[in-house]
Amino acid sequence: MAPPPPVPKLADKNTLTVIDNRTDKTITVPITHNSIPATAFKALKGEVPETKGGVDTDDTTNGIRVFDPAFLNTAAISSKITFIDGDKGFLMHRGYPIEQLAEKSDYLETAYLLIYGELPSKSQGEIWKFEVMHHTEIADDLAKVIGSMRYAMGAFAPEANPALQGRNLYIQDKAIMNKNIIRIIGKSATVAAASMRVRMNRPFIAPRSDMGFAENMLYMMDATSDAEDYKPDARLARALETLFILHADHEMNCSTATMTHVGSSLVDPYSAVSAAAAALYGPLHGGANEAVIRMMERIGTVENIPAFVSAVKAKKELLFGFGHRVYRNTDPRSKIIREVAETVFAACGHEPLIEVATALRDAALADPWFVEKKLYPNVDYWSGLIYRSLGFPLDFFPVLFAVPRVAGWLAHWKQAIEAGNPKIWRPRQLYIGPQVRDYVPVEDRVEREIQDGKEGITGLPVCTPFSPFQSTVVEWGCSDHGIGSDSTTSREEDWPPSCNLLKMC
Ligand code: CMC
Repeated sequence: MAPPPPVPKLADKNTLTVIDNRTDKTITVPITHNSIPATAFKALKGEVPETKGGVDTDDTTNGIRVFDPAFLNTAAISSKITFIDGDKGFLMHRGYPIEQLAEKSDYLETAYLLIYGELPSKSQGEIWKFEVMHHTEIADDLAKVIGSMRYAMGAFAPEANPALQGRNLYIQDKAIMNKNIIRIIGKSATVAAASMRVRMNRPFIAPRSDMGFAENMLYMMDATSDAEDYKPDARLARALETLFILHADHEMNCSTATMTHVGSSLVDPYSAVSAAAAALYGPLHGGANEAVIRMMERIGTVENIPAFVSAVKAKKELLFGFGHRVYRNTDPRSKIIREVAETVFAACGHEPLIEVATALRDAALADPWFVEKKLYPNVDYWSGLIYRSLGFPLDFFPVLFAVPRVAGWLAHWKQAIEAGNPKIWRPRQLYIGPQVRDYVPVEDRVEREIQDGKEGITGLPVCTPFSPFQSTVVEWGCSDHGIGSDSTTSREEDWPPSCNLLKMC
């Protein structure tokens, strides 16, 4: 959580004073880089209105929110990278005016500047360019995938791609919008099942339109190719269907924000869904169910729980499946999912990790550290156990989250398009980087440590003492795509690298 803004002195001119006329409450907030912290407004709490069912949909008790569709006047980050003065038509990267870079630099040098904050020295630039240019090849498997797509984007339906059609398809034609919504939802289960079949090295099974949605997905994953009368276990089909309902939407979370953000540029919904799926699988979001199981497997037995809880409190571990940006008490889905878990365990047999899961939950809920931080099990705490019990491989768990979430993503995308005159999401930033400076020719540059090199890319070869990279050099191949062993050696004396397998990476 962002720290509360410092309490400013009343005499301080760099402040903003706001009066909430509902309550006469006054807050004074600091102005930094010509901005005020939005969280300061959380202190302005109104009276909870009388509502039907006692649900305050305006969330009044949590203070005033800042409403800024499309981020028209909201800075979402502070940044040292690029500064734009829109009124003057001025642009600089890391302090260097764009005109100077355009005239004197090249793309890879500019990329280095953007990423590491300084223009590279001569040797740094050479290493950087060598490495990038030797990581240009792609795997044969990827080439085959690309070869199977006539258009890089909108491979399913080129006629649904606004770029290929040269018009704002979805604003202009509701029928096209609905057709593609239906296609995406229908195909999502088939694509997921097909990817599972590839993993199992089994032929694809055609979908069955006479089955329920989750039932059909189970069927496509589970049936043998000659078993036409195969039907998934009804209890498991219903369990998956319930999980799909629980995962279908969850207001403006990370992946839905991605969908809406990408969609705001009026791309086709296939591309926006792909972006949302990518946002979903991170371990803080939909990838948490996978992370929960890996965590529980690591803990192993109930006896190891106290040590793990201590490590979480010491901030050495994260308790995956706990905590939520919005829920501060309980996640209503987690209670339902716990019941679904019992159904699945009854059908599939005892899940060995359940003892660890239950004891860990109880230990955390009884510990004041977690209670004070309002950390409770979220939906991912239990869903992973269900998927594991159903026999799904760990890395497939986020797919089981993504398939139903497609509905929520599309709902938000459609809502945004239909709101009329959709605005592109374009957040602002607070610039905190270097002031204007002149381009320095490479021969005049001093070799220096890259300011953020240490926390920058790791896993690439160390080639000089000044490289921002750290290396894992192996006897054959290169480890940065998992090929080869873990032995770590400096390649300083071996420059230029003799390992021609580098290009494999
Ligand atoms: N384990 C340990 N500490 C935690 C956890 C956790 N799971 N979650 C929050 N905290 C701590 C956090 O470090 C902070 O400590 P401090 O006040 O000392 O800085 C405090 O609790 C408050 O957290 P927060 O800032 O309100 O959390 P957030 O809103 O920024 O993040 C979250 C929300 C879900 C990313 C986070 O709780 C988390 O990382 N949980 C584990 C991952 C997880 O289960 N994700 C699934 C989320 S639900 C489904 C979904 O979105 O897909």
